[in-house]
Amino acid sequence: GVTRHYKFDIRLKNVTRICKTKTIVTVNGKFPGPRVVAREGDRLVIKVVNHVSNNVSIHWHGIRQLQSGWADGPAYVTQCPIQKGQSYVYNFTITGQRGTLWWHAHISWMRATLYGPLIIYPKHNVSYPFAKPHKEIPIIFGEWWNANTEAVINQSLVTGAGPNVSDSYTINGLPGPLYNCSAKDTFKLKVKPGKTYMLRIINAALNDDLFFRIANHTMTVVEADAFYVKPFETDIIVITPGQTTNVLLKTHHNPQQTTFVMVARPYFTGRGTFDNSTIAGILMYESSFNNISIKNLPIPTLPPINSTSFVSNFTNKFRALASVKFPVNVPRNVDKHFFFTVGLGSNPCPKYQTCQGPNNSSKFAASVNNISMILPNTALLQSYFFKKSNGVYTSDFPSVPLVSFNYTGTPPNNTNVSNGTKVVVLPFNTSVEVVMQDTSILGAESHPLHLHGYNFYVVGQGFGNFDPKNDPAKYNLVDPVERNTVGVPSGGWVAIRFLADNPGVWLMHCHFDVHLSWGLRMAWIVLDGKLPNQKLLPPPADLPMC
Ligand code: C2O
Repeated sequence: GVTRHYKFDIRLKNVTRICKTKTIVTVNGKFPGPRVVAREGDRLVIKVVNHVSNNVSIHWHGIRQLQSGWADGPAYVTQCPIQKGQSYVYNFTITGQRGTLWWHAHISWMRATLYGPLIIYPKHNVSYPFAKPHKEIPIIFGEWWNANTEAVINQSLVTGAGPNVSDSYTINGLPGPLYNCSAKDTFKLKVKPGKTYMLRIINAALNDDLFFRIANHTMTVVEADAFYVKPFETDIIVITPGQTTNVLLKTHHNPQQTTFVMVARPYFTGRGTFDNSTIAGILMYESSFNNISIKNLPIPTLPPINSTSFVSNFTNKFRALASVKFPVNVPRNVDKHFFFTVGLGSNPCPKYQTCQGPNNSSKFAASVNNISMILPNTALLQSYFFKKSNGVYTSDFPSVPLVSFNYTGTPPNNTNVSNGTKVVVLPFNTSVEVVMQDTSILGAESHPLHLHGYNFYVVGQGFGNFDPKNDPAKYNLVDPVERNTVGVPSGGWVAIRFLADNPGVWLMHCHFDVHLSWGLRMAWIVLDGKLPNQKLLPPPADLPMC
């Protein structure tokens, strides 16, 4: 591999969307941010220089960071934030991975404007397990607020109520013609007839799973979270925040029509408020490049907003290639079993504060096993590495919920949430199974759970309560899909397995930023192994201090 250098200057920039100009934090003045491109085996050296007063840190979502956990990026987990006037060089090698990933800020809600694609091509002379597409195009969904997003989340954390929902969705930063003042800000996918395009679809929205469809065109799904899957056709895809999906799009040979509308809008089953607006873009064949109005074009239909059955049908179609070249290495014997309840709950309102959360006297909290994770004032990884864990974290994260879970009744709501900074410590090479069970207080809701530093196999999922007697017998250990982010089904459960072969401190959390801010997160510490290549390397000299 080669070494590729990038420089990210964090700067303010005025950007106008949906009739409103706003100053946003950007990388190099670009919104969305620049594309980072590499090949499997390359080293990326990305210098981030912060010129703004907001603290930042950047996460390379889906990169395994083997032995290089200092470059992972979540603030107060693997590093302290990069403050104004400071810089930090993220230096890591891409080992054994290729596909569509992305990068985003990992502090507060800064990722609303700080995000971009991270594309890893196969090694030289290694081809895709499908015919080479004519062209590859990133499609990155985002969410836009007219207000300052830091103010939106801070207000929510103070009042204990839900934050204001976004004012629009975007495709590659553009809201599209169904929003006010936005016809000129429409994403246009320009194509030639009779060709195959690969769309690298990324959901960078903060708080919404999205459906996506292109009128009169089917898509073939070939990759999820930078893993090839058995190809399958679909008219509509569903994608959670944090996930990436590559699809092949075959254009018509003799298109009857030359422009087609593409749309995306949320899948949502909770009872809170949400943004149910629709983003639109245009697929245009070359003969129509000048004629860009969508006025008389049909808008393709999407499933109803709460179509859990559609979503579960769709997610069940993802299967690993499980071939000689791309084998499935799912752990067959599990050393450690965990059962995690994940969901929203409530915390008592602190004295002298007015709270507007559920039951009027509480704040929203979100938790794993009834613990809402509080981030420490210094990075967990620093505390761990320099053996200064005292007062920063404790190693007693429970393997089952604190409030005992009745596997046969209705799932409990999470009203007994306590705050804490607790981790699970795993010896090197522990094989782990985690069953994640959705709980509900405001209606069941799906939670896109993301694990840093690892990919995991999704071995089972179902609705209702997990049944420890009968469900494990139905696990798929033959061709389970490998991912870094999985939607815990609304009102259901999902079982994942991974081998803890990467030493460091790794966050696992809901990729809805609202739930992340409310504490739906926990961390794993994976200890060093015996061999030199099984140890976390020391931190770089420019690691930011708190
Ligand atoms: Cu995409 Cu912890 O993040």
